[in-house]
Amino acid sequence: MKRLATALTVLSVAGFGTTALAQDDVDPAIAAAMKARQAHMQLYAHNIGVLGGMARERIPYDADAAQAAASNIAALTTLNQSTYWPEGSDTSVEGSKALPAIWENLDDVMSKSEDLVMAAAAMEDAAGQGLGALQGAMGGLGGACGACHEDYRLSDD
Ligand code: HEC
Repeated sequence: MKRLATALTVLSVAGFGTTALAQDDVDPAIAAAMKARQAHMQLYAHNIGVLGGMARERIPYDADAAQAAASNIAALTTLNQSTYWPEGSDTSVEGSKALPAIWENLDDVMSKSEDLVMAAAAMEDAAGQGLGALQGAMGGLGGACGACHEDYRLSDD
């Protein structure tokens, strides 16, 4: 009886080991880069949510809050993000929605990133200047996010 219990313990430990190995299949450096870029995108999303809510008049316009959100987005666009996109971190890796097309069209991806820098700067100038100014800059900003997603992010459906 004791031997059987010991054998089962050994088996379950071995089983656990196999599971751990399967999870380790994603290179830790790749997993970390994916986490970083997805977190960066989430920061965009959180801040653009504030601006979009005001633009659609779902939440009251507040110049300080709008300015803070716009400045956060603009600041984020100035970070060097080159290490977020290692080769091998495309949709072949679980959890990644980064289409392989990114690595085949790096010039275009960079140009779309530049478009976002410009649109975020325009929003930073406009957001604190009244609801009309914020609304005027919203299409450009949202469009810059969407243009890249359309070509380079796996869609949810
Ligand atoms: C130059 C291309 C590009 C631009 C510009 C861009 N994104 Fe993304 N975004 C991506 C890619 C590629 C992914 C998929 C990343 C992944 O799955 O690892 C993504 C993923 C996301 C996600 C999902 C993150 C997660 O947790 O998986 C959100 C939210 C997002 N983007 C929001 C935004 C917002 C808001 C903007 C504009 C302020 C923006 N993105 C601008 C390319 C871009």
